[in-house]
Amino acid sequence: MEIVILGSSRQIGELAADAIEQLIRRKPDAVLGLATGSSPLPLYDELAARHERGLDFSRASAFALDEYVGLPAGHPESYREVIRREFTNRVNIAPENVHGPDGTAPDIPAACEAYEQAIADAGGIDLQLLGVGTDGHIAFNEPGSSLASRTRIKSLVEQTRRDNARFFKRLAEVPHHVITQGLGTIMAARHVVLLAKGAQKAQAVRDFVEGPVAAICPASVLQFHPHATVLVDEAAASAL
Ligand code: GLP
Repeated sequence: MEIVILGSSRQIGELAADAIEQLIRRKPDAVLGLATGSSPLPLYDELAARHERGLDFSRASAFALDEYVGLPAGHPESYREVIRREFTNRVNIAPENVHGPDGTAPDIPAACEAYEQAIADAGGIDLQLLGVGTDGHIAFNEPGSSLASRTRIKSLVEQTRRDNARFFKRLAEVPHHVITQGLGTIMAARHVVLLAKGAQKAQAVRDFVEGPVAAICPASVLQFHPHATVLVDEAAASAL
């Protein structure tokens, strides 16, 4: 794991954008893995600015990490909408090449299997962006998730629902269930880039970087990844 400690979330965004720009220039039809949450927002701003200056995403495709179950299509907090609003609508990725798990599917296990198949059909993910939850979750793989898991339905722990309630009018609106890529799915990406900022992430960063690899801290599985880059600010790195 390569750990890079930076001075600001803007710098984190710039360095992550460099990695994506290099990938897209080398491989114009790259497959990007996209994350939601606040951590990637400066990166998405930076990529939108680079697109204005000519960075071309027309042959790229993208897969979201996860999705709430049961939010109606078009709900502003469904991750499909968040990804569109924050990133893909601001660059020239073809809308039909932007994929996310279907949280409204009548048959959720079949939708999960179809999502794994779609990633495989696209040739796998070249660069997977990640944030980390305060409890060490990545995507929505909460503590206790199997380190080999694939895309499936999961329940959110109360801490994550509370953390994410800021995006909803009230806590009761935060769904209890989600579809998430599994830890095994994430580990299959060729490069993973995790972004974390702020003191509230310091313990999680310490646990997954320096602690044992264990399901209790899902992000710790990245210690086994052959090409994992962790970009953190000084506050998030303060317990290392
Ligand atoms: C949610 C998402 C994760 C994200 C996490 C942290 O739980 N499912 O993918 O990493 O939030 O979000 P933030 O970056 O806002 O701290």
